[in-house]
Amino acid sequence: MRPVRIALFASGTGSNAMALVAKAQELSKEKIDVAFVLSDKSAAPVLEKAQNAGVRTYLVEKKTDRKTHESEVLKLLREYHIDWIFLAGYMRLLSADFIQQFRHWHAGAEQIVNIHPSLLPAYPGVDSIARAFNDGVKESGVTLHLVDEGMDTGRVLVQEIVSRKEEANLAKWTQQFHEVEHRLYCQFLEKVALGSQDTVYFKETP
Ligand code: GAR
Repeated sequence: MRPVRIALFASGTGSNAMALVAKAQELSKEKIDVAFVLSDKSAAPVLEKAQNAGVRTYLVEKKTDRKTHESEVLKLLREYHIDWIFLAGYMRLLSADFIQQFRHWHAGAEQIVNIHPSLLPAYPGVDSIARAFNDGVKESGVTLHLVDEGMDTGRVLVQEIVSRKEEANLAKWTQQFHEVEHRLYCQFLEKVALGSQDTVYFKETP
């Protein structure tokens, strides 16, 4: 049997992407293969980090129209027979057409996931940790969810609370989030690699 092939999409630092790369390497290439890391930002540190870890990278920058951008990305996904997309700090929305096309290639299964640093539906979008911190919330968390065309709105798969200690500053709290994100995302990657039935999702008909 061939390995499960995944693509990681990231726009920034790439701590989640690199945690996934390390986990995939630990699990072995027969089980799971990170085919490439894709970024939409030429300055994203994740590109160099991935290359240093021996992972192929692609840069597909913002285009004047979304359709052209997405068809370039779809071409890569097709070329590498990608089974799963893991969004790891990818700060672009995917269109309904894109998601539908990818789902169609996988017999209707939903195989795009995202990790987000809040207990969705609270604090979707950008700067979620800082916004919760500035609001003085004592408990926020991490959400792993399927991706739809909305902003962090797909079906929730896993959530874990991240509590805030009195003395924690924003940097310390952020670090707590990252630790939880990396652990939850790597656990999910392992399930995907092992072909666990827990990772088989189909869109619920309304
Ligand atoms: C992570 O905290 C991730 O959950 C968040 O961006 C950060 C990327 O960090 N994603 C979102 O906010 C998606 N809406 P990283 O580049 O170090 O993985």
